[in-house]
Amino acid sequence: MSALLRVAVVGSGPAAFYAAGALLASEEPEVEVDMIERLPTPWGLVRLGVAPDHPQLKSVSKAFEKIAARPGFRFLGNVEVGRDVTQAELASLYDAVIYAVGSQTDRRLGIPGEDLPGSWAATELVAWYNGHPDYQHLEFDLSHERAVVIGNGNVALDVARMLALTAEELAPTDTTDAAIEAILASGIREIVVLGRRGPVQAAWTSTELGELGDLAGADVVLDPAELELDPSSEAELEAASNVVQRNVEILRDFAGRTQAGKPRSVRLRFRVSPVAILGEASVEGVELVRNRLAPDGRGSVRAVPTDEREVLSCGLVFRSVGYRGMGIPGVPFDEDAGTITNADGRVLGENGMPIPGLYCAGWIKRGPTGVIGTNKKDATETVELLLEDARAARLPVRAAGTIDAVLAERGREVVMYAGWEAIDALERSRGEPHGRPRVKLCTWDELLAAARAR
Ligand SMILES: Cc1cc2nc3c(=O)[nH]c(=O)nc-3n(C[C@H](O)[C@H](O)[C@H](O)COP(=O)(O)OP(=O)(O)OC[C@H]3O[C@@H](n4cnc5c(N)ncnc54)[C@H](O)[C@@H]3O)c2cc1C
Ligand SMILES: NC(=O)c1ccc[n+]([C@@H]2O[C@H](COP(=O)([O-])OP(=O)(O)OC[C@H]3O[C@@H](n4cnc5c(N)ncnc54)[C@H](OP(=O)(O)O)[C@@H]3O)[C@@H](O)[C@H]2O)c1
Repeated sequence: MSALLRVAVVGSGPAAFYAAGALLASEEPEVEVDMIERLPTPWGLVRLGVAPDHPQLKSVSKAFEKIAARPGFRFLGNVEVGRDVTQAELASLYDAVIYAVGSQTDRRLGIPGEDLPGSWAATELVAWYNGHPDYQHLEFDLSHERAVVIGNGNVALDVARMLALTAEELAPTDTTDAAIEAILASGIREIVVLGRRGPVQAAWTSTELGELGDLAGADVVLDPAELELDPSSEAELEAASNVVQRNVEILRDFAGRTQAGKPRSVRLRFRVSPVAILGEASVEGVELVRNRLAPDGRGSVRAVPTDEREVLSCGLVFRSVGYRGMGIPGVPFDEDAGTITNADGRVLGENGMPIPGLYCAGWIKRGPTGVIGTNKKDATETVELLLEDARAARLPVRAAGTIDAVLAERGREVVMYAGWEAIDALERSRGEPHGRPRVKLCTWDELLAAARAR
């Protein structure tokens, strides 16, 4: 084992920062961390996923700033592993590599019409309104009266809520100006959120669900018949967590409300699955099948399609049925799970044995579920195994050389932490006069120019 361990952490979202924090806290061995991120900006989904009207959740970045300030930490932004540097090169330059690259794409529904214009992955809308530089060219036609959101998770709620916010609600946020303009000019009057199972099985959490009932410009609409529970769901509810019990209470409150006549509404429906997205040149509707719920043998229920079908007309569909991980060349990947093949964060080779020096953490390790804090325990577990391997001399011997030399030879423009700080300062200064946390730079050119001007 070298006296000083050099570790590359790929990605800069919560999992990467929590991994870096745990590594830099180690005294024996002492560790230096190079955090390698494809974007010029850190924080992953905290910057580019968490809804802009939830600034208190984005403030976790303060903890990440403290980690970045520790001795031994370096940020190398604008460097994509697999494009600018390979896994094989990282393996030779570092004692260990941790992949914390998140889940970069969306799960598919696998139904006809999914790719019609007007049918979007929630991932695209989320990245667009949050200012992700790869998504600013997208043009969402929000002129339609009805939008349908498929899925019953927190992302589905984010999408429904963001589309319904008023000027006053959007004004103090860091939503991009283009998105604010489009949402305010939108013709959407009704947003219908569809769950394939029932109210007891929805994946959302209570605070996020409750917020739907407090929107200034949208009524929440729920037909009480949607809340009738089958015997299995009744039993599931009785044994369910406080979150699920609270969710059902909130839904019952929604169902008992009189509409206030707000300009928009968010309608919740359960036990329906999309079987096709309909339309000639673009989305004109969704064909739905009504489901019955049958015990799944694991204490919950599964959706079983009936013969009952209907067409819900709409001009926009947002598919919010989960994110999905993507493989990195040279790193074993489980296509079915959409995760790096691993045991508790140790990456496994074809023989099922750990590959020395190769680890993963966060969504790419366990799949796209869990809140920001979930990644702390997850990343710490990975780092503990890495340090255990280091102490037991199970890490490979690293070669001479540095990533700086490799990237310089390729003419890659690296955005170091000072470059990110320059972007951050400029964004905050643009937001400050308007009472906004920041006005984001959201093109590659703007981001790189700001980083250069540090
Ligand atoms: C829309 C949305 C809203 C959410 N809102 C909340 C919320 O309000 N509260 C909450 O607690 N949780 C929320 N979550 C969950 C939370 O964001 C995740 O648990 C967390 O971000 C996962 O962390 P991660 O580090 O694994 O991945 P990510 O945050 O996705 O970070 C991965 C990073 O890796 C980088 N990367 C990818 N490929 C490469 C490569 N080849 N080379 C270099 N870098 C690469 C990416 O650019 C990214 O910066 C939300 C999730 C989503 C999708
Ligand atoms: N404010 C917050 O704290 C916040 C905000 C956003 C995201 N997050 C977290 O980020 C993670 C990801 O959120 P997410 O919403 O993307 O995923 P999620 O919580 O896994 O929800 C996915 C939803 O899609 C449904 N679904 C899956 N396949 C479907 C299909 N073929 N047809 C119809 N519906 C289908 C699922 O239903 P089934 O249950 O029937 O499979 C579920 O309701 C979650 O852990 C979430 O809590 C947190």
